[in-house]
Amino acid sequence: MFVTFEGLDFSGKSTQVKLLAEYFKSTGANVEIIREPGGTAISEEIRNILLDNKYSEMEVETELLLFSASRVQSVKERIAPYLNKNITVISDRFHDSSIAYQGYGRGVPLDFLIPLQKFAIQNAVPDITFFIDIPIDEVLSRKSKLKVEDVDRIESAESHFYERVRDGYLLLCEEEKRFRIINGLLSIEQIHKIIVKEIESLINE
Ligand code: ADP
Ligand code: TYD
Repeated sequence: MFVTFEGLDFSGKSTQVKLLAEYFKSTGANVEIIREPGGTAISEEIRNILLDNKYSEMEVETELLLFSASRVQSVKERIAPYLNKNITVISDRFHDSSIAYQGYGRGVPLDFLIPLQKFAIQNAVPDITFFIDIPIDEVLSRKSKLKVEDVDRIESAESHFYERVRDGYLLLCEEEKRFRIINGLLSIEQIHKIIVKEIESLINE
């Protein structure tokens, strides 16, 4: 099974990815976690360029192509080989992040972006995608608890950008059956329980 998590920055994805991996392990399943951008030597190098605050001049096209390049490497080097061996893969973000952030957030035309993502992921289409939804106020409140130097280039965005990204995610949720919208204001444990229920019902389908 290939599971992806999506949402605004600080929505609680990494927390839920770890809990879901523990759940899979408790059932005896083999599971691997991927983080995007990252997860391979090349992808981690690309991640450092993408998130470095010193590159404020980065063009949106550059940003999109770097995220997509990192994704191709993760898919070919890790995700596809794992799925071929029946290992469950959980990815903290995937191609929907590019559609939401670079497409809806930064305005890259979708008629270019969507085929590019299909090219980048090839056959690795997620079976289920959890969109952990939190309001923009909550993003800003969770961000305010971090030290300034811990906020990366993309997380430095203003609230209008997050509004556009969130609206984009909600449109994707309407279009694609694999999405499940989860209220990210629930407690960590409540969210985990909902996610496990969804996974179990997918397995039993
Ligand atoms: P992301 O991977 O989406 O950036 P994290 O899992 O790193 O999110 O969580 C961001 C922050 O929000 C962390 O401080 C985390 O402890 C907190 N957090 C995560 N889930 C919840 C939740 N359900 N309710 C309140 N705070 C949460
Ligand atoms: P990261 O710290 O991994 O995410 P999070 O804050 O959600 O834990 O940072 C990744 C940043 O990159 C995040 O702000 C979302 C952004 N991003 C894109 O803009 N496009 C993409 O395709 C991906 C994968 C991430």
